[in-house]
Amino acid sequence: MKVLIAGAGIAGLTAALRADALGHDVEVLVKGALGDGCTAHAQGGIAGEYGPGDSPALHALDTMHAGDGHGDPVAIAALVDGAIAALDALVAAGVPFDRASDGSVARGLEAAHSLPRIAHAGGDATGKAISDALVSRVRASAVQVREGAFAADLLTAGGRVRGIRLLSGEELEADAVVLATGGAGRVYPFTTNPSGTTGDGIAMALRAGASVADLEFVQFHPTVLSGHEPFLVSEAVRGAGAVLRDAEGRRFMVDEHADAELAPRDVVARAVARQALTQGSPVVLDATGVHDLAAHFPTIDAELRSRGIDWTREPVPVSPAAHYLMGGVVTDVDGRTTLPGLWAVGETARTGVHGANRLASNSLLEGAVFGARLAEALTSASDAQLPPDPGIPGRSRYQLLPFDSDHSGRSCDLDGPSFARTALQRLMWEKVGLLRDDEGLADAVRTLHAWEAPAPRTPVEQEDANLLVVARAVACAALARTDSLGAHFRLSPALTAPAPTPSALIGAA
Ligand code: SIN
Repeated sequence: MKVLIAGAGIAGLTAALRADALGHDVEVLVKGALGDGCTAHAQGGIAGEYGPGDSPALHALDTMHAGDGHGDPVAIAALVDGAIAALDALVAAGVPFDRASDGSVARGLEAAHSLPRIAHAGGDATGKAISDALVSRVRASAVQVREGAFAADLLTAGGRVRGIRLLSGEELEADAVVLATGGAGRVYPFTTNPSGTTGDGIAMALRAGASVADLEFVQFHPTVLSGHEPFLVSEAVRGAGAVLRDAEGRRFMVDEHADAELAPRDVVARAVARQALTQGSPVVLDATGVHDLAAHFPTIDAELRSRGIDWTREPVPVSPAAHYLMGGVVTDVDGRTTLPGLWAVGETARTGVHGANRLASNSLLEGAVFGARLAEALTSASDAQLPPDPGIPGRSRYQLLPFDSDHSGRSCDLDGPSFARTALQRLMWEKVGLLRDDEGLADAVRTLHAWEAPAPRTPVEQEDANLLVVARAVACAALARTDSLGAHFRLSPALTAPAPTPSALIGAA
């Protein structure tokens, strides 16, 4: 079977290697260079290294709890049940996980985990170690890799996805197309995601009519050092004992949540934002009490020192930045989407494991577990796809339809500023960010639907077009969810019930 995979993070490369081992003819498309995606940036590790008293069942409970009860129990069970095999496969692929003195894989703690169960490599360079190992395996395999190949759109015929059209115009046919292009952090101006994270797979799926869900759930990481490129200070630093302080040096998280700095990420991010807003000065991460910072966190240590911060002696100013998209292209636990011939995996997919807020270090695990599952499923039941409406409780259904301003029930000024990536990012940050309200969301939906991106001819224009498609979907989903849940937080519930429903929203359960 010819399998075309767009994207080359842990999810795409795991699927590629497994599908290759199963005898498929596999080709991976990367818009940049192999190894330059999100996976290589992951500082926090990979969950699933269970120690005494721990179990997949406890990990499942933590995952469901962090996701504010919105996770899918079947998907979560698949995730945790596959964890041990996934970590073993990464060790076999050559990932040099950090070891404890007895030679076992060392276990770290991160927020909202009941016990230390996070495996790291190179301290805070886990993603890079995983990416390097998988890339060298792929280079040594029969998997074909096309770098600099921008997958622009899906080819469909007879109700089935039959391949991919590259931005260059070249058309590649396949029996199965896998979207593994990561998330869409670049819809925001402040994000931990690298520059290519522009929602390409989700936009392609939307244009082809695949179902998406949970796009209102955008995770903001609470401890990001701002600068011309925001820099993540891993949650593992708080797991090692660092604390958050306000301008007066007070540990404000103690009053916010029983787990203080190790509360679920959305809770910490909102508290950090509120403190900064009320005090008018940034919150700081105080790691001065943590031993051996340079040894445990060499990447962070080097970056902070390059920015003139000695974190062994002084606190680090931090603020929230967009980090992860919980929603995406709807799939089952084997990566099947609602379109025959189309599969999705990793951050591009909405499997249901993350619910409304992802548990730290579950994303690399998701890529490893579901990438392997997808490859196995290609063999066994390639044509069995999800029903067009998989009936996810509480999800807003979104399709790409022309926006009809009259239908919103509000006056609608379609003469807003013309589209530019920076304007889109600012709009998303201000109106569809960490703290949302009905009016801002409605404004964002109107403006986003008034903008048009130019017909893409260059990679930047293609990314812009994709960002606009995904931003519209995120804003519409956020407008449709009138309550707060997990990472989707409304400062006040919609005052008028129900919230205005643009015609781009086809109902909200
Ligand atoms: C972090 O290192 O804080 C991020 C880990 C993650 O997003 O899972």
